[in-house]
Amino acid sequence: MTAGSTTPKRTYSLAVVPGDGIGPEVTDCALAVLDKAEELYGFSTEREHIQAGAQHYLATGELFAGPIEDSLRGKDAILFGSMGDPSVTPGILERGFILAMRQAFEQAVNLRPVRLYPGVKTPIADLSSERCDLVIVRENTEGAYVGRGSTVHAGTKNAVAIQESVNTRAGVERVIDYAFRLAASRRKKLTLCHKTNILVEAGRLWSDTLADVAKRYPEVETDYVHVDAMCFHLPISPERFDVVVTDNLFGDIITDLGAVIQGGLGVAASANLNLDGSAPSMFEAIHGSAPDIAGMGLANPAGAVLSLAMCLTHLGEPVAAHAVETAVVEVLGSMEGLAGAAMGGTTVEVGQRIVRALEVVAEGKTPLLAGQSIMESMAAAKNR
Ligand code: IPM
Ligand code: MG
Repeated sequence: MTAGSTTPKRTYSLAVVPGDGIGPEVTDCALAVLDKAEELYGFSTEREHIQAGAQHYLATGELFAGPIEDSLRGKDAILFGSMGDPSVTPGILERGFILAMRQAFEQAVNLRPVRLYPGVKTPIADLSSERCDLVIVRENTEGAYVGRGSTVHAGTKNAVAIQESVNTRAGVERVIDYAFRLAASRRKKLTLCHKTNILVEAGRLWSDTLADVAKRYPEVETDYVHVDAMCFHLPISPERFDVVVTDNLFGDIITDLGAVIQGGLGVAASANLNLDGSAPSMFEAIHGSAPDIAGMGLANPAGAVLSLAMCLTHLGEPVAAHAVETAVVEVLGSMEGLAGAAMGGTTVEVGQRIVRALEVVAEGKTPLLAGQSIMESMAAAKNR
């Protein structure tokens, strides 16, 4: 009996935005895995491929706002490749598409698991998978990423640049509340990561909000780590952490560090979650567009496929999600290296291996990944 044979057929609308650089090739792998997951687990997706990114922008001037936003808005979820290309001035696509989408669709939480899966190589000597299983909850719509600021005397020796960081009680509270829900479903420990000794205004808002929300979750233990100290603790004692909640900029930085610890940017996944269902959530690998290796088959599709697994959890297909996660871990564990030629196969070949591994998982011949799954934590946090 396959895992999906007792469940009715469910259909979800999915927007697929392959984007630039390595985005299209890793997204193709994720879609091949999705095809197989649908066949094995009895659900289906109606997919709309959206043209967006550098070429589209250069040809049409279109970024997120306008027709693209309109066609994405009604979807159940968005599968996103990557965006950014040397042909477009840095910042235009990043701000005009990625940040614009996160803000317009109120994707308040950027959920980034940092799990060193069993058998996966890490550059941190002596780190075992049991010691590294945490989740970073990055605030995703505010902070320094709101795009407010000004420059006077730009380009002269008298230039003065002011970049503002905006933190609202409502924005901070919704992220902290989500982080508590996630922690309550896991090892019940929540760490606030900030820089309250220097950024005292924003720091106070974050600390006060955490203290208030904590009253609703007496079962969750809380602590605090400065962001600079986090860069020290994360690689050498990740077991200190279960759920970490942090602001947008700090979260951007420490999740790249987290990615390295779990095997590199190629394996790290993320979910940009809209928490109230008012707009679609978006799922993307945390790597960028890597234009230097685009189209060469050197990109690891694991991050994109694990992001698909988070998408499936979000859509309400946790069984398929757990199976996809297991299949990725099977394949990663068998690879010599996790990026480039060291993968021992091209992007497409690694993707095909994941598809085959998924078949074996569905046949019940590979045990489902043990330990606390981010897929289960996400589902529990959503339903709490
Ligand atoms: C990320 C990326 C983005 C960010 C860029 C590409 C806009 O670095 O998702 O971490 O800064 O959030
Ligand atoms: Mg980043």
